Amino acid sequence: MNNTNFRKPVRKAVFPVAGLGTRFLPATKAIPKELLPVVDRPLIQYAVDEAREAGIEEFVFVTGRGKTAIVEHFDTAYELESTMTGRGKSLDVLDPTRIQPGSLVTVRQQVPLGLGHAVWCARAVIGDEPFAIFLPDELMYGSPGCMAQMVEAYNEVGGNLVSVLEVPMEEVSSYGVIAPGESKGNLTEVKGLVEKPKVADAPSNKIVSGRYILQPEVMDLLASQGKGAGGEIQLTDSMAKLIGEQPFHAVTFNGRRFDCGSKVGFVEATLAIALDREDMGEEVRKMAKKMLG
Ligand code: UTP
Repeated sequence: MNNTNFRKPVRKAVFPVAGLGTRFLPATKAIPKELLPVVDRPLIQYAVDEAREAGIEEFVFVTGRGKTAIVEHFDTAYELESTMTGRGKSLDVLDPTRIQPGSLVTVRQQVPLGLGHAVWCARAVIGDEPFAIFLPDELMYGSPGCMAQMVEAYNEVGGNLVSVLEVPMEEVSSYGVIAPGESKGNLTEVKGLVEKPKVADAPSNKIVSGRYILQPEVMDLLASQGKGAGGEIQLTDSMAKLIGEQPFHAVTFNGRRFDCGSKVGFVEATLAIALDREDMGEEVRKMAKKMLG
C-alpha cells in the first residue's frame, strides 16, 4: 500500500478512562484514578496538556460509571470562578482546564472489558481519521512532550506508531512488547507485537508505554477482536494485525516515563516533578535530604 494514504493529520485523541483502578484501592473507590493529583494537577491534566502541545484539537474521553468528575474537571466552574474573581484572585491557575466548547466528547464504556474495547467505544467519533491514544496513568515527562515527538515521527513515516521504552527483561510480562526491526535515530520498525508475554517468549525488552497514533482501520479489527491476555479485549492484538498491512513504527521517547498506575511509580512521579518545580523544588530537596538522613 502507498504510504501517502496513511498521513492524514492527527487531530483527535482518545483518553480511555473507564478502568477500575483496582491497584489504587481504597483511594479509587469514589475518585477516578485519572484524577489522583501528582503535586497539584490530576493525572488526566498532564495527558491533556501533552495532547494540546502535539496539536490535538478534539478530546474523546471513554468514561464509565463513577468517572463523571473527570469531565467536570474540564468544565467551567461558574461558582468557583465568580467567588475567586470577587475575592480578587487570578483565574490563570484554571487555564489548563479549559477545553474549547464542542471539543470535548465523551463516550461510555458500559463494562470495562479491556483497553481494546474502550478504544473501540470511540469509533463513531473517530470516523475515518487517524487518532492518538493517551493512557493517562502513564505520565510522560519531558519537553517536547512524548506525543509531540511522535507526531514529528508520524510526519516523516506516517501509518501507526507506539511509544516504547526499555525495561529489565524480567519485567516484560506486565506489558505489550514489540518485536523490533531496523532502527534509525529514535525510530524503530515494528515487526510484531505481543501482550504480556512470558519472559522466555518475549521478542525484546522494548515495551509499549501508553501513547499511540493509529489509523482508523484498527477500529474494524477491534470490532471482532476476541479476548486476549488477562481475559480482556487487548488493543495490542488488533494492532498486531496491522503490521505488514500498514507502516508501523515505535518511537523511543526522549524524556522520563512514570507508571502512575502503580503505587511506587506514582510516588516516584510526585517526587521527581516536585523536585523539578521552580516554586517548590528547593524546599522539597531539603525535606527529602532530611528524611533520608
Ligand atoms: P489499566 O489496566 O492500567 O487500568 O488501564 P485499570 O484497569 O483502571 O487499573 P487496575 O489495573 O485495576 O489498577 C490503562 C488505562 O486504560 C483504561 C484505564 O482507565 C486506564 O486509563 N481502561 C482500561 C479503560 O478505559 N477500560 C478498560 O476496560 C480497561
